[in-house]
Amino acid sequence: MKRIALLGCGGFIGSHLLEALLRADYDVLGWDAESHRITSQLGREGFSFYPGDLYQDPQLEEKLSGCDVVISLAAICWPSRYSSEGLEVIRSNFSEPARLVEIAARRKLWLIHFSTSEVYGKTLASQLGPQAENTMDLNLLSEDLSPMLLGPVRNSRWSYACAKQLLERWIFAHHLEKGLRFTVVRPFNFIGSGMDFLPGLENGEGIPRVLACFLSALLKGEPLKLVDGGKARRAFLHVDEAVDAVLRMLAKPEGAANQIFNLGHPGNEITIRGLAEMLREVFAEAAGEASYRNHPMEEVTAREFYGEGYEDSDRRLPDIRKASERLGWEPRISLREALKRIVGVVVASPRVLP
Ligand code: UGA
Repeated sequence: MKRIALLGCGGFIGSHLLEALLRADYDVLGWDAESHRITSQLGREGFSFYPGDLYQDPQLEEKLSGCDVVISLAAICWPSRYSSEGLEVIRSNFSEPARLVEIAARRKLWLIHFSTSEVYGKTLASQLGPQAENTMDLNLLSEDLSPMLLGPVRNSRWSYACAKQLLERWIFAHHLEKGLRFTVVRPFNFIGSGMDFLPGLENGEGIPRVLACFLSALLKGEPLKLVDGGKARRAFLHVDEAVDAVLRMLAKPEGAANQIFNLGHPGNEITIRGLAEMLREVFAEAAGEASYRNHPMEEVTAREFYGEGYEDSDRRLPDIRKASERLGWEPRISLREALKRIVGVVVASPRVLP
């Protein structure tokens, strides 16, 4: 049975993956500074938990060397922090994990690293005007074909995408020159329970991702804020489907090794305004209160909402043919169904994280 190191086991994705790995009888060594999402796993057979900053663990390399696979998830992933905390963002998404890559290469470990769909930046279509909007090649993001289009350095939002992209290149260079076995995952807007925090209702600083912002606004009776009119598009994937993809990678290492995979649900693509509208409907049904269907929305500029240095990804439409062909993976949970599951938990217990 495989022994897996899970770095960031207490985060949103990590906590779901941890549960699935333990259920599948893997032995897991987990690191995280947070443990509130995994209290029910602490002390479970097959799980060793190391609290705190993993990069401060003097025995990190020694502990990792007893594992077959290292899954690295630890990261800062909220756009509101990319501009204001550039140093920390670059340190935690490049400098520190770069050391981890060296350890994995030296110790001959299979590194499954979670990168981001944000490495693609903006679409080519966004640079070419409205006539390019319907040209699929200029919109669809493919792992081994699409260029990566980040904005200028002054638009510090891109510090995160740039750090993550450099780490992917660092991983690939270690593969070519040091024989590192790797898999890179590019998540496209995973959603599920335990995601981020509800501002004003739960502990947490800054602005979380869009779904947590909208849920907290609904619960507090405040307007849903649509940044720049909510015209950006995202394709949302329920986290259970992402966990399923990782289990398939572990079960089929020959299909997964030395590849980059988009994990997303192109069928769930929607504008942020469309997401707000669908969420209002789902929330009204779950709460049994029709007035939520007309819950107010308010348009705000990106500068008002995020401050200086923000620039958006216009669209993130994943090409998932590689995951389908190599892993036999197909996402099936519709956006409406995913929202129903998440809202169901929130409405039943508003103090539980979405
Ligand atoms: C973020 C991270 O930067 C990515 O690395 C990560 O892969 C991604 O989340 C993810 O969840 O996979 P982004 O999609 O821009 O990227 O994150 P959100 O904060 O959820 O924003 C989505 C869109 O909603 C943006 O257009 C944003 O401007 C908008 N938004 C956000 C609103 O209109 N209102 C809000 O209250 C919050």
